[in-house]
Amino acid sequence: MQRKQKRDNWGSRLGVIMAVAGSAIGLGNFIRFPAKVASNGGGAFMIPYLVSLFLLGIPLMWIEWTLGRYGGGFGHGTAPGIFHSVWQKNRFIKYFGVIGIFGPLIIFIYYTYIESWTLAYSFFALTGKYTNLMNQEAMQSFLKGFQGLEKNQFFNSISSAYMFFLITFILNISIVYYGIKRGIERVCKIAMPLLFICGIILLLRVLTLGVPDPNRPNWNVYNGFGFLWNPDFTALKSPRVWLEAAGQIFFTLSVGIGVILTYASYLSKGDDVVLSGLTAASINELAEVILGGSIIIPAAFVFFGPENIQAIARSGVFNLSFVTMPLILNRLPLNQILSFLWFFLLFLAGVTSSISLIQPAVAFLEDEFDIDRKRAVLIFAIVSFILCQPAIFFLKNGVVDELDFWGGTFFLVIFAMVETILFAWILGMENAWDEIHKGADMSVPKVYKFIIKYITPLFLITILLTWLWQEWLPIILMRNVSSTRQIYILVTRAGLLLIFLVLAVLVKLAWKRKKAMMERLR
Ligand code: ALA
Repeated sequence: MQRKQKRDNWGSRLGVIMAVAGSAIGLGNFIRFPAKVASNGGGAFMIPYLVSLFLLGIPLMWIEWTLGRYGGGFGHGTAPGIFHSVWQKNRFIKYFGVIGIFGPLIIFIYYTYIESWTLAYSFFALTGKYTNLMNQEAMQSFLKGFQGLEKNQFFNSISSAYMFFLITFILNISIVYYGIKRGIERVCKIAMPLLFICGIILLLRVLTLGVPDPNRPNWNVYNGFGFLWNPDFTALKSPRVWLEAAGQIFFTLSVGIGVILTYASYLSKGDDVVLSGLTAASINELAEVILGGSIIIPAAFVFFGPENIQAIARSGVFNLSFVTMPLILNRLPLNQILSFLWFFLLFLAGVTSSISLIQPAVAFLEDEFDIDRKRAVLIFAIVSFILCQPAIFFLKNGVVDELDFWGGTFFLVIFAMVETILFAWILGMENAWDEIHKGADMSVPKVYKFIIKYITPLFLITILLTWLWQEWLPIILMRNVSSTRQIYILVTRAGLLLIFLVLAVLVKLAWKRKKAMMERLR
């Protein structure tokens, strides 16, 4: 019989906090968050966002850290095994766990490609390839040319984007190849402080922008912050704003995806999860609200005014970060350096997140099939490389949006619901409370016992039902998709279903294999 290999572990507490914060802080903080805030009218978004943080984000963070550490004790680093450890009598629960491998894999497929744009733009900033462009049209066509959506004076093929994708992909794979401690932890410990340094420099620059247009004295940083923070209570009545705010909390904290479960599975039994989880979540919120919100939104407000910010954000999720932000920086002294800092910050944020998206699939192969890490990483590399291709070549056909909807939004809510029910109702709140506090450096406020048991699941069910009620049919019937795109969307959906089924079959095989091994041992 093959000997079970020893599971990897974290080198230090700081290391695991940096890695989880690194997973959380990503393109979501600096691209998705400002776009959501701006397109939802600024302060209107922030109340549902903060409510979702306290009622969904923080509880789920604790649930995942605790369940991950619990499952790791049984030698499982991914949701199928972790869920099965919690509810051993249920034969089907492991299949719900498939989402915890499927979700990260699907997000990885498009995330890495977008991350590679930020590397490319960092390089172009230093070489001055776009830093003399001064209007929206030119910057927009630079982006479209780069993405291969059109041929123009800047690019006549997708080859440059593809080259940066290859570099980014290989870098990601290489980091995970070195393992938890020597790869992921080491990179995050360097990348996180660097990211904050870049962010703070940019923030200081934005704070000193003054009033560039004397005819519009109201377009200043002060009012830019007002746009973000002045609450608008009427928005509380809009289910769509609630859905978007809750979705952003999931995406930004990396909860409901499966990656924190996997990272936490490399903790030891007596390691604290309460304070560490809270610290990682707080670092993420600092990066999202203070850096993510305070750089791009006030800067865009100063140069373009409140109405235009909304229009820009609504015209496409990448426009604020890849068009508006470089345009603003192009008008300032030291534009090349500032632009480099902006895109390099995005790249650091991206890479520390994408490596966390690789780890669940790798951990699954290691833990459930006893495949050694290096081979598991190679298998992941080959499969995911093939899967990345449609996201690259069919970007204009809506493939990335479709992957983001299923992998990065819909399944997160389902997965979070399963986790919460398992934790609070199957493990039971009393056991769960003991489990969460093992080795804890602080106690979770008692009110969270009630929140986790009732409020979080109710909130999740409400989100899901509202979504089903409002959007299920139009999405399934592709009512908002142009007829030329429909075939691409259908093929993407079929592909996603196939990937899910393959993973479910792998789970079945893994359990069959284990059962056979146990019988042989008897
Ligand atoms: N949490 C990661 C992000 O915000 C996925 O980008």
